[in-house]
Amino acid sequence: MKAAWFESFGPAQDVIVVGEQPQPTPEAGQVLVKLHTSGINPSDVKKRAGAFPNLLDDGLVIQNSDGAGVITAVGEGVSDSRIGERVWVYQAQYGRRLGTTAEYVAVDSERAPLLPDAASFAEGACLGIPVMTAHRCVFADGDVAGTTILVTGGAGRVGHYAIQWASQAGAKVIATASTEADADACRSAGADAVVNHRDDDWSAQVLAANDGQPVDRVIDVEFGANLEAVLDMIRIGGTIATYSSTVVPQPQLPFLRMMFMDLTLRMVIVYAMPEDAKQHAIRDIHAALEAGTLQHRVAHELPLAETARANELIEQGGFRGCVVINTA
Ligand SMILES: NC(=O)c1ccc[n+]([C@@H]2O[C@H](COP(=O)([O-])OP(=O)(O)OC[C@H]3O[C@@H](n4cnc5c(N)ncnc54)[C@H](OP(=O)(O)O)[C@@H]3O)[C@@H](O)[C@H]2O)c1
Repeated sequence: MKAAWFESFGPAQDVIVVGEQPQPTPEAGQVLVKLHTSGINPSDVKKRAGAFPNLLDDGLVIQNSDGAGVITAVGEGVSDSRIGERVWVYQAQYGRRLGTTAEYVAVDSERAPLLPDAASFAEGACLGIPVMTAHRCVFADGDVAGTTILVTGGAGRVGHYAIQWASQAGAKVIATASTEADADACRSAGADAVVNHRDDDWSAQVLAANDGQPVDRVIDVEFGANLEAVLDMIRIGGTIATYSSTVVPQPQLPFLRMMFMDLTLRMVIVYAMPEDAKQHAIRDIHAALEAGTLQHRVAHELPLAETARANELIEQGGFRGCVVINTA
């Protein structure tokens, strides 16, 4: 089968190889998916750049965890009735080497949920990391109906879906964005108010957008950089759910201040979500896709031969939405 892989760490154009690899055979409990799309995310490019030094110890890595396609074969213990199902794939390259930049992937059957006809294969490639991360950030700490939630970076791949989950679940959502176009995207996703996180007084703007009251929860894309500001705008007993801290990778916590605010700090990593949280997300994603209530943004679609370019797009940023590699 055609595939894109790396067997050393480094810049994408230097280490991504596109060529032929053996087609996998589904093992017991697995399905074989003929992929149409592969979704690439920041963690995929960080792995290629060497963020996990032992990643290549057992051999080459076919990139990317997310994708979508059609089941063409099943392993022992999986019903033949799954053959022909349109599915989306998640965590294909988590704890294993062979991901979705390939014509085929063999994954555990539960890692290939049904993709409703209403959703395209490109949209299916956005679900595993962006949509599931957003779902976890919104729902990990209980019902959000009636709460006020701040979503920082609301126009980002994860943030855009976090706004949608939170607002559709009945929360008042204040989002942050740094351009008018991004602010429009946040409002269109369901944000009730948008402030600019590049303004020095953005925490005061959040309070003003909430009638002077602190928010109940914060879903944060830049934990270390934003912490001081967040502490100025979150209520005592509030929850910060954060999924990234790239600008300040080792933040210092003002422990006493946070303790006296009785805050909950929720670290989210989509790969290690508890299994019941994954199943919760999959049920909600299925219902939302069937109902057509999730907005998706596919910013770039590239052929498999341009997998290195897809890596560079994610690294360079400067656009809004998912990057999808067409594998078929
Ligand atoms: N933990 C997990 O499970 C998980 C899952 C998915 C992604 N991630 C990580 O989350 C990060 C974002 O991923 P993504 O795919 O959503 O990226 P993305 O699409 O590039 O979005 C990032 C967003 O953050 C905004 N932003 C940057 N600095 C900010 C700040 N100080 N305050 C508020 N917003 C800020 C950006 O807006 P401006 O450019 O306009 O400032 C942009 O809208 C990456 O580091 C990724 O590795 C983690």
